[in-house]
Amino acid sequence: MKKNILYYGDCLEVMEGLPDNSVDLIYLDPPFNSKADYNILFGARQGGGDGDDLAQLTAFTDTWEWDEKAALRVEMMTRAVSHPAHRAIRAFGELYPDGSGMFSYLSYMAERIAMMPRLLKDTGSVYLHCDPTASHYLKIVMDSVFGAKNFRNEIVWCYRGAGYPKKDFGRRHDIIFRYTAGDDYLFNLDAVRGDYAPATKARFRHYIGNVRKGGDYGEQSLNPKGKHPDDWWAIQPIAPSSKERLGYPTQKPLALLERIVQASSNPGGLVLDPFCGCGTTIEAAHLLKRDWIGIDISAYAIEVVRRERMRDLNISIAGIPKDLKGAADFAKRNPFDFEKWAVTRIPGFAPNKAQRGDGGIDGRARIFQGDKNHSLCIAQVKGGAPGIDSLRAFSSIIAGGAAAIGVFITLEKWETPSVKKCISQAGTFKRGETKFNRLVMYSIAEYFEGAEPKLPALAHPRTGEAMQAEIRPHQTPPGN
Ligand SMILES: C[S@@+](CC[C@H](N)C(=O)[O-])C[C@H]1O[C@@H](n2cnc3c(N)ncnc32)[C@H](O)[C@@H]1O
Repeated sequence: MKKNILYYGDCLEVMEGLPDNSVDLIYLDPPFNSKADYNILFGARQGGGDGDDLAQLTAFTDTWEWDEKAALRVEMMTRAVSHPAHRAIRAFGELYPDGSGMFSYLSYMAERIAMMPRLLKDTGSVYLHCDPTASHYLKIVMDSVFGAKNFRNEIVWCYRGAGYPKKDFGRRHDIIFRYTAGDDYLFNLDAVRGDYAPATKARFRHYIGNVRKGGDYGEQSLNPKGKHPDDWWAIQPIAPSSKERLGYPTQKPLALLERIVQASSNPGGLVLDPFCGCGTTIEAAHLLKRDWIGIDISAYAIEVVRRERMRDLNISIAGIPKDLKGAADFAKRNPFDFEKWAVTRIPGFAPNKAQRGDGGIDGRARIFQGDKNHSLCIAQVKGGAPGIDSLRAFSSIIAGGAAAIGVFITLEKWETPSVKKCISQAGTFKRGETKFNRLVMYSIAEYFEGAEPKLPALAHPRTGEAMQAEIRPHQTPPGN
């Protein structure tokens, strides 16, 4: 089995391909059914009254509807009496006889959680991170799949934050359910006594301040001599200015994952995070000398792990195209995901929120303009054979003022006389002394050749700093 590998895809399918009894620890931090879209956080320097554009840049969505897919999923699990989540799904069926967004979410989660017991070693553990939106129901799913007798802890992660609801108590905690494969489970009590998150401290020296602040709640002060830790953990979320922050929404603190990895795995063991986001678990496992497998369905998340978090290590990535043929297959197989993947080939671009009715815009980026408001750069992706009418339509979106520059991304290079005419008609955009075409052609073929589109420097999505386009087509490192 391949280890230390990041999979781009649905964890349901990836987990299906992993061997039995191979994993020591599974940590999952799936969508919480928050009914929100998680937008990519942009640096403060990029502000300037254009919040609507920013809101378009979505890392992943967490809204659930009752639809045909949900109904099929539920029917499958309701009929299959031997399905590990069968009993939970039947119970929810009583609660939601006509379906609901919550039922859709729970059946999606149940389908994936049900894959996990097979993967765990007999000594293995699973930590499910969620919040009070659905924690009460998810515990029923976990009981159904792992057995209520294997429930070990409900960990309450408490943190501070800003803002209070007018007529409710402040909501300041998440829930982490800890279950084990059986009674013979690994638990490294001594590793989680006392000194708090030493690997995280070593990694982010500046972070010690935050950890001490967490100590205000008592963690550090209650535990000076290595007291047996309790099931409530005071760990501060990542501060806006923290070096740890990668700009990926819902990023969890490394200190939280360090504690989980320490408690329930040994060096050399295997840690799986099927909803890995920007890879906090992966980094904790790596720092603590565990092997790891990460999975995420968002091409943007995979890019953050590859280009930012683990940039010094040439990590293996599976499930994303490695050549033009792979990209063409991907475009046919899954056009929406292909579009997201294709726009994120250009560093600085984020995929557009809507999959349909997106007005011909598949991704957006900001052109770096010092302290001034950054002009917009948009992209459209064509996975199939492009037609000149679609290029003209895209060009008219740019001409209409939607953006300073538009990038039209095709699979193969596309350079006919009518394309050239379109480009020259679209005119130019001046940055300093340099003129750039307002309509820019770019292809996945060029991406695999390591060629960059001709664009002004784009603003880094997180820091707002100017970034160099840095095209690094993914190649599997030797030995994988
Ligand atoms: C709450 S975030 C995880 C954040 C992560 N713990 C971190 O620290 O960065 C949930 C992630 O699950 C991913 N996701 C949603 N459905 C998925 C699926 N079926 N398979 C794999 N990943 C999925 C989303 O793209 C998102 O990145």
